[in-house]
Amino acid sequence: MPAATVTTTTLLARKQRGEPIACLTCYDAAFAQLLERAGVEVLLVGDSLGMVVQGHSTTVPVTLDQMVYHSRCVTRVAEQSLVIADLPFMSYATPERALEAAARLMGEGGAAMVKLEGGGALAETVARLTALGAPVCAHLGLLPQSIHQLGGYRVQGRDAEMAARIEADALALQAAGASLLVLECVPSALATALAQRLRIPVIGIGAGQGCDGQVLVLHDILGLTPGKAPRFSKNFLAELSAGAQADDQASDRAGISIEAAVRAYVAAVKAGAFPASEQILA
Ligand code: KIV
Repeated sequence: MPAATVTTTTLLARKQRGEPIACLTCYDAAFAQLLERAGVEVLLVGDSLGMVVQGHSTTVPVTLDQMVYHSRCVTRVAEQSLVIADLPFMSYATPERALEAAARLMGEGGAAMVKLEGGGALAETVARLTALGAPVCAHLGLLPQSIHQLGGYRVQGRDAEMAARIEADALALQAAGASLLVLECVPSALATALAQRLRIPVIGIGAGQGCDGQVLVLHDILGLTPGKAPRFSKNFLAELSAGAQADDQASDRAGISIEAAVRAYVAAVKAGAFPASEQILA
């Protein structure tokens, strides 16, 4: 029997039961099938594809047409997972533009939820989207689309003022109707406090263990990202190979595959073993 489809209700129930949610980015059909087989519950068609697929140095050049295309590649084959698509840079600069962009990501791209980066200033946009049936995932902390304004990929919310702003933004976005919150690169203590305070599930990336789930960039967990991987990430494929080499068992070596690495990520998230202390940012 096929596994049940993951919805916002499923994710809310997971939070209430304290069962961590395993999420990964995904940009094409081959990986969508593999990630579902490996037990990933939420597939994020992230605009990180601009960096890991297209080779740009930021997510800023990614267009709405490209996001629709990649979303369609994923949703054409995804059967059980919840597929979230990123609204790209400036495509939600006004509530009207956000409605049009979400209509394309959901209508043509087949996504079940759209994600946008930013704080309380987007509350009206979130309210308009959700009132019209477009579920929203908010994204706070490090906002990659604002990298030219931030001046670098750094931990956000270390000082009390910024931490209070992130908390106020999260509450405003939840009140406006957001169904999910991604928190990127914030101190673990702040993320834990927010996950406890908010009713909606909080998915962390570089935000410690106290979130309701974890998301990573697929290419990072497979060691495919050129250059230095972020400290909060982990190459699960390399870890499998290292384990098999240490054991020198042919049977262990046979178990090394991309799918096994993704399964190891899902198992680690579900067991609360990822992130471990070396990936946690203070
Ligand atoms: O685009 C993306 O991959 C993301 C994750 C970093 C959460 O937004």
